[in-house]
Amino acid sequence: MSAPDLMRVIHSFTDDSAVIRIEGLAKPVRMLHLTDTHLRFFDERDGERYEGCVTYTKRIEKVHRERGTEPDPVKPFRDSMSRAVDETLDLLALTGDIIHFPSPVNVEFVCEQIATLGVPAMYTCGNHDVHYTDEPVNKEIRLTRLAALQPLHNGDPDCAAREIGGIRFITVDNSIPQLSRKQVDFVHAQLAMGQPTVVLFHWPLSLPTLRDAIIDMLGSPPMMGDPDWSSESRDHWQTTADTPETLEFVHAVTTAPNVVAAFCGHVHFAHADSINTRAVQYVTAPGHDKGRRLVEFRPL
Ligand SMILES: [Fe+2]
Ligand SMILES: [Fe+2]
Repeated sequence: MSAPDLMRVIHSFTDDSAVIRIEGLAKPVRMLHLTDTHLRFFDERDGERYEGCVTYTKRIEKVHRERGTEPDPVKPFRDSMSRAVDETLDLLALTGDIIHFPSPVNVEFVCEQIATLGVPAMYTCGNHDVHYTDEPVNKEIRLTRLAALQPLHNGDPDCAAREIGGIRFITVDNSIPQLSRKQVDFVHAQLAMGQPTVVLFHWPLSLPTLRDAIIDMLGSPPMMGDPDWSSESRDHWQTTADTPETLEFVHAVTTAPNVVAAFCGHVHFAHADSINTRAVQYVTAPGHDKGRRLVEFRPL
């Protein structure tokens, strides 16, 4: 594509908002981005995992008390959803770790909240959605949990798309965080439609200033496509070297002329980085700490 054909996109943002002006957009679209609320409801239906949920809850509540942060993730989640009622939303985008484990009561609660809000929602999983805290997280565990998570996806848990107001929104589940051939082919097909496209996933793409901030905070760069994330740290995060499919996805999102933004979470702080001259990757602060981002797509 020659330079004059490139879509013009202008971004402005704070830690909890973004305005994205897109050339050719017919009408405004409003989206709430929510990520990493880490809800932890559980009950007797969790069976042999119940005691692990009790132990984890005691541990994390102690951490929050020591930090002086909110120990109950339900309060900020409810606050965010009640604010959303008056925000005239076209889309609620949920990008992973919304629940801390795939308990039936967690899934039921989030589904009820989404239904009560009555706004179209897109849900993609993070590493915590797909496993209980006392079991490993990997491709096999994820597959065993998809049936329990299905009410949240309400469609294909691997990848999905919908058009809203002339913008194509794509979810890609990178909870593991390596991607499959199916997911990458899906993304290519969606991008080939040529519409302004927003990509929603959990683990961020490795980008320069985000990378520095994450290393400062975590001591390693747990992101997609990071060239220097060590094998030792990858073991700690229970993942492998990036697969060819993962790297192909990163290349597709960072080079496509019609990707206007990506939204993700996982690292638990707000950040924004240019992907290229058109697109910005927005990391939103964790919902359990009142994080949220109200996004307005406007005609340019
Ligand atoms: Fe998280
Ligand atoms: Fe995560």
